[in-house]
Amino acid sequence: MRDVVAELRSLERFLRIKPLYFDLESMEFVWLDTRLIPFEEVYRRTREYRRVAEAIKGMEIRGAPAIGVSAAFGLALAALESKSSSVEALIEDLEVARRVLASTRPTAFNLFWALDRVMRRAYEEASRGGVDRVVNSVLEEALKIYVEDIKTNVEIGRVGSKLVEDGQAILTHCNTGALATAGFGTALGVVRYAWYEGKRVRVITTETRPLLQGARLNVWELRKEGIPVKLIVDSAVALTLLEGMADLVLVGADRIILTGHTANKIGTLQVALAAKHAGKPFYVVAPTSTIQRSWDPREIVIEVRSSEEVRTVMGKTYLTLEDVDVYNPSFDVTPPELITAFITEVGVVERPFEKNIPLALSSPRH
Ligand code: MRU
Repeated sequence: MRDVVAELRSLERFLRIKPLYFDLESMEFVWLDTRLIPFEEVYRRTREYRRVAEAIKGMEIRGAPAIGVSAAFGLALAALESKSSSVEALIEDLEVARRVLASTRPTAFNLFWALDRVMRRAYEEASRGGVDRVVNSVLEEALKIYVEDIKTNVEIGRVGSKLVEDGQAILTHCNTGALATAGFGTALGVVRYAWYEGKRVRVITTETRPLLQGARLNVWELRKEGIPVKLIVDSAVALTLLEGMADLVLVGADRIILTGHTANKIGTLQVALAAKHAGKPFYVVAPTSTIQRSWDPREIVIEVRSSEEVRTVMGKTYLTLEDVDVYNPSFDVTPPELITAFITEVGVVERPFEKNIPLALSSPRH
């Protein structure tokens, strides 16, 4: 435990925004409620894993890596909450918590990756020792996932920044920054890294209807760092790219499979099609923990969310008739032929993806 805490201290300089963490003094999980950004910065705290599940489902915490890290801390809380005096009963309690946490968001692969990793550790420790040992190891594994996410993001930033030149404008869709991860970001992490290196980059962000992750979260976090940002409506992407206002596109991912098919925020497919038409590079930026070892795009579950998200602005003002029929898929799948390359912590993954994505997963640095 001491090693992981020391490593975290050494990474804190990269955390100018701290969207979530585990408070080791109060033993509470703490997160910034992203529903209120950019108007209010409210941190919430809990010792209950069910509250973590509620926060993920209700979009207080969102973005695939942030969801994964939070779910891992959810399991840590479940272990601390458990009154079980035997290892078998504790594992039972953890399995219940795993099911509750896994049922929050179906597309984000990092969620299942993180839950599986923590549970694997719990089973390993259960075969070797008692209740205290399992509880401590579950918390330690969650902290490791948190620290690794920050480290991985910084490395993704370093790798990706090489593809970005001084003075370039980057078009992005949805929020992939500090607010979507443990604190640095993937696609916006590349922008952030390039900016820290002294490159005068600019961001063009879509609004990202219906929940406005671009208009609310990207604008807030980029402004905080002083990185220039221009806001466009989602339907202005094709024109903006054709007019040459952006040099390249960087987006994140909720789930990537071995073929290169990539699930990301609804509208990403349209951005990719427009980038292809305009002849602009389209990069997917993600940690390898977002990659599912599957060859079948039909295994990608697309979350369909509430109609109210589309009928209203953030659940408040109605912008249409209250009973209009709505279809609100939260993600779409971009096929590999529209993707220039993947930017990951183990390097840039180029074509052929079906060969190079599995290779990236077997990299010694993975
Ligand atoms: O519905 P959200 O806000 O969780 O969707 C987030 C995205 O689509 C992000 O692009 C993706 O999770 C990557 S975040 C680094």
